[in-house]
Amino acid sequence: MNTMNSQRVNEIIAANGADRMNSLAILEDVQREYNFLPRAAIEQVAKELHMPLGHVYQLATFFKAFSLSPKGEHQCKVCLGTACHVKGGALILETLEKELKIKVGSTTVDGKVSLEGVRCLGACALAPIVVVDNQPHGQMTADAAVRMVKEATAPKGAAAPAPVPAPKPAAKVPVRGVDLSAVPPRG
Ligand code: FES
Repeated sequence: MNTMNSQRVNEIIAANGADRMNSLAILEDVQREYNFLPRAAIEQVAKELHMPLGHVYQLATFFKAFSLSPKGEHQCKVCLGTACHVKGGALILETLEKELKIKVGSTTVDGKVSLEGVRCLGACALAPIVVVDNQPHGQMTADAAVRMVKEATAPKGAAAPAPVPAPKPAAKVPVRGVDLSAVPPRG
């Protein structure tokens, strides 16, 4: 995990333009750099943009895309909306909690994976849905979700986990908050 570097934050501010109009874009880039918004970075953004610190914190806490605590290198989100819940979302989440040895809303001790439960992603026809590193996967099973997380966190060059069976063809459905031109095949 990257440690906060004030020089890097200044580069991000300069790249976006040191203007309060660009504060959201700057916070997005800082979040992308560190996987969360370090307190020192928020203070630096406020200072450089001549904004009240409280105002920057308001932005950082209002938008769900921002996190004030460190996230794992990989993000795993399980949809817990009604359709996904009925089709096994809760079991998938429970299985991932056991596999990762963490509770939903937390991060593994090695900082590799953050596990979240999220509300309906707007693609209920593909339920249950798991999003790994911003890639949505529909019609998931608990076993397939575990394999996907193992795949995402496997060291580069490591032997690939057993292949996950291909899902049924899925219609293109918009999913809120993630890039969603299509649900990619598993495996
Ligand atoms: S309930 Fe999961 S996508 Fe709607």
